[in-house]
Amino acid sequence: MVVDLLAEDDDALLQQPGRQLVVDHEERSLGGVGAHDPTVRHPGTSPKAVLPQADPLSAGRDAGGPAEIGCRARGPVAQTVPVTTTPTVRPLTADDLEQSVALGIEAFGAIPDGMPRPTREGFPGPGRLWWGAFDGERLAGRMLRREYHSWWHGQELPTSGIAGVAVSPEERGRGLLRELFRAVLDASVERGDVVSTLYPTAPGIYRSSGYEVVTTLQTVEVPTAELTRVRPPVGVRTRRATAADLPAARALYDVWARAQNGPLTRRGPSFPATDEDVIGDFTGVTLAVDESDAVVGYCSWNRGRGYGPEGRIEVQDLLATTAEGYRALWRLLGSFASVAVRVTVQTSGDDLARSVLPTLSWTAIESHPYMLRLLDVPAAFTALPARARGTVVLRVHQDAVSGTDGSYRLTASEDGVTCERTDPEGDHPTFTPGGLALLWSGAQTCANVRMAGLLTGGTAEDDAVLDAVCAGRPLHVRDYF
Ligand SMILES: CC(C)(COP(=O)(O)OP(=O)(O)OC[C@H]1O[C@@H](n2cnc3c(N)ncnc32)[C@H](O)[C@@H]1OP(=O)(O)O)[C@@H](O)C(=O)NCCC(=O)NCCS
Repeated sequence: MVVDLLAEDDDALLQQPGRQLVVDHEERSLGGVGAHDPTVRHPGTSPKAVLPQADPLSAGRDAGGPAEIGCRARGPVAQTVPVTTTPTVRPLTADDLEQSVALGIEAFGAIPDGMPRPTREGFPGPGRLWWGAFDGERLAGRMLRREYHSWWHGQELPTSGIAGVAVSPEERGRGLLRELFRAVLDASVERGDVVSTLYPTAPGIYRSSGYEVVTTLQTVEVPTAELTRVRPPVGVRTRRATAADLPAARALYDVWARAQNGPLTRRGPSFPATDEDVIGDFTGVTLAVDESDAVVGYCSWNRGRGYGPEGRIEVQDLLATTAEGYRALWRLLGSFASVAVRVTVQTSGDDLARSVLPTLSWTAIESHPYMLRLLDVPAAFTALPARARGTVVLRVHQDAVSGTDGSYRLTASEDGVTCERTDPEGDHPTFTPGGLALLWSGAQTCANVRMAGLLTGGTAEDDAVLDAVCAGRPLHVRDYF
């Protein structure tokens, strides 16, 4: 994640109908720590992107560690010391491109073969805003904000995707990451973003900035031969999709994504692909259709090289709205058993696609934890559907980079949820930003957030209301950026 150098990212290869990928980070400041540095400049508005792809330079996608829920882990890096000279934090321009690319390569390695080097003409790319921390004219740190929307609790919420984060080795430990976050998240709030997310190279880097791990994007491997044992579907067949079928496939993705917490909407400037472009990104997009030719599932897949022991089919999306749809798609993939030993699938959480598999074989070969923080607490809670009744005042504290610290009155009724800032009074449930992300996303209950040390105060009644309003949807992601 946060590995974008400035152009297309190796994970741009994770495309799907709606493809996208990518990474940008934006940040806003405010926060509990007071005023922004006067040298920090904020863009009036977020740039409206203009490009279609992922950023190259994001070469290193090493897996983050496991979700150390509850640990406010300190990384192996020396404890942050205050900056001795005040950095200037501002959006990058095309004139900063060379410095940014160099910093990205230094952090994440050389641009992968086949990935184009970023150009001035292509900078910054659609839906992307780069920020830099400068020591004089020298770029000492940078961060990318990508413009997304993602599904949470049945609503499409404006989302700042953070990526491409790098600080020059000699400048690490001076607090530049925090300065970048303050500026980027400040701009995100100004734009109206409700949440911010990222794929960390190490979760410990982002916990003090309010992010917590809420789910994990995985690549899993299934032996192709095992798929031949999936029961034949009844009343569903498969056929190859053309560009004309993409709207139906997108509609199915929407149905699935709306029922989860976390998936990107795959719309907006970060996903500019046409239907033809999407089809062209894959060896095949296969539909599962019922007897009336209605789409009940699809998978987008690429045929890897060879037909010996290394042969495999790489599946980006495998989604269906019926069990028969899943069976039809798995069996289609199983038909490659003679030439592709393995099928790999992008997945997360407990994938429904497994419910029709007779085999236990489902081996994660790559994992990328996904971190979340709230930027606009009232908007985030107002997005919750009516699931309970009650009133709770909750507090947020220790937000070091954004402005969520304070007290909020949350009222849940049959009409939905309202949430507004209120004056602090009495003993109320008090969350760190990370604790609030875990609860609000549905990743953890109040009881578990308390055990993690990220929630104190309040009553069992408060916890019951908060658990009830935030529960209800499994967490899933499919797009790496
Ligand atoms: C990550 C990076 C940007 C941090 O730079 P920085 O501004 O100097 O940040 P700091 O050294 O002040 O560290 C910030 C926090 O991250 C933690 N951290 C730093 N490196 C870490 C690591 N490898 N593992 C876990 N935590 C780490 C620090 O302990 C600190 O935690 P705290 O705020 O709770 O005290 C910089 O080390 C870097 O460029 N690394 C290589 C590229 C990279 O991994 N980028 C992140 C991509 S997701």
